[in-house]
Amino acid sequence: MPDELNYVDWFRHSSPYINAHRGKTFVILIPGEAIECAHFSSIIHDLALLDSLGIRLVLVQGARPQINEILSSRRFKSQVEDDYRVTPQDQLLDVIQASAAVRVQLEAKLSMGLPNTPMDGARLKVCSGNYVIARPLGVVDGIDYGHTGEVRRIDSEAIFRLLEDDNMVLLPHLGFSPTGEVFNLKSEDVAIQAAIQLKADKLVIFSEEEGIFKSNGELYSELLTKDADVILKEKTLSSITHAALDACVQAVRQGVPRAHLISYNDNGGLLRELFSREGSGTMIDEDSYEKLRPAHIDDVGGMMALLTPLEEKGVLVRRSRELLENEVDRFIVIERDSAIVACAALYPFEQENAGELACLAVSPDYRGSNRGERLLKGIEQAAKAQNLSTLFLLTTRTAHWFIERGFSETTLASLPTKKQALYNYQRNSKIFSKIL
Ligand SMILES: CC(C)(COP(=O)(O)OP(=O)(O)OC[C@H]1O[C@@H](n2cnc3c(N)ncnc32)[C@H](O)[C@@H]1OP(=O)(O)O)[C@@H](O)C(=O)NCCC(=O)NCCS
Repeated sequence: MPDELNYVDWFRHSSPYINAHRGKTFVILIPGEAIECAHFSSIIHDLALLDSLGIRLVLVQGARPQINEILSSRRFKSQVEDDYRVTPQDQLLDVIQASAAVRVQLEAKLSMGLPNTPMDGARLKVCSGNYVIARPLGVVDGIDYGHTGEVRRIDSEAIFRLLEDDNMVLLPHLGFSPTGEVFNLKSEDVAIQAAIQLKADKLVIFSEEEGIFKSNGELYSELLTKDADVILKEKTLSSITHAALDACVQAVRQGVPRAHLISYNDNGGLLRELFSREGSGTMIDEDSYEKLRPAHIDDVGGMMALLTPLEEKGVLVRRSRELLENEVDRFIVIERDSAIVACAALYPFEQENAGELACLAVSPDYRGSNRGERLLKGIEQAAKAQNLSTLFLLTTRTAHWFIERGFSETTLASLPTKKQALYNYQRNSKIFSKIL
């Protein structure tokens, strides 16, 4: 039973994230190491779940260990310079072979639909093709990189059409040039460029470690790019983690709102990172990932997820989706990692120079950290900007919170006439006001 309760609790708490992520585009880098890890099947199941929740997925596939293996079995020596593998003509076929084997393996797993697995009924459609246009890296400092290339362009238009048609898109680390040649690309470069050019909402990189750790061994759950720069300069990370963090920073600097580093060794890490408050890895972003801002129409789903439980408990008055959509301009919200975690509204009564504060709510997980206070300040500022001199509100259970913030109880007769007419005697709310 406790397990079941945990599950129900977890599922309920994940709903703001489910709403926030629906319809968003995530680029996910799956390195060759992940394909060989013990939890690879679970990673595939989790990707299928993201797909079912309406997230548009672009997977980027690496094949580093597989290429190493095939080259060493052929007794070829692989030369890596500045994190780029040199690809001479006589090794190209082996690189293609290793990469194709990984791609086929991924496509096969994504096609799984056995009734006794989480993939039952998933029916994923996966597309891959010549969507990465490449050019040769050329000769750098006297080293001829051969068939190693860099991304010239991502065919975003074609990829958008595929995503629009409910396909998952799989981009291998191989690119093609207009001259008809194949180039071996760094999978991180493909992932960065795909995330930037597709204007993805997130870049997620599976790496060997859970994320980036502080010197006391604690995991950073959020890391700002400027702090990531310092860590990268120290050069203390393993080469795989360094490359992954560097890719996250580059993507975020070039407009991808958030990048996440998670571990392929952590079973369920992807779901915890995307659908739980604590996350499982390190999120990299440019600024603090919590913003107080005016609400817009896309926030209504998240606002409903926040308000409905409070309406059901009778703490707030019921508002339909239509009403919220019509009145969304009156709301401010606090957005955290794409989820709406708090909101409040201001209803002005211009004739009386008064404003009503309504719908003040902070998600239970996020209470007690001044978010209520920040929203109240936001509403007070908005009211002042509209030249309103009084702020009032009706409450049944939160009287003391407002008293502690300068409100005092008042009478129904002091309210704007229109508001008096709407007063619900059965609800018997207390009325509070504050001079601004
Ligand atoms: C009221 C609410 C918005 C406060 O949000 P919050 O982000 O936790 O607020 P803050 O962090 O700024 O303030 C937390 C303080 O308020 C107190 N508090 C929370 N709910 C309270 C209540 N109903 N009555 C009195 N005090 C309350 C907390 O105990 C805490 O005080 P403490 O630090 O001294 O213990 C939030 O609890 C909520 O959403 N409640 C349900 C909806 C609601 O009642 N809205 C008001 C409708 S009019």
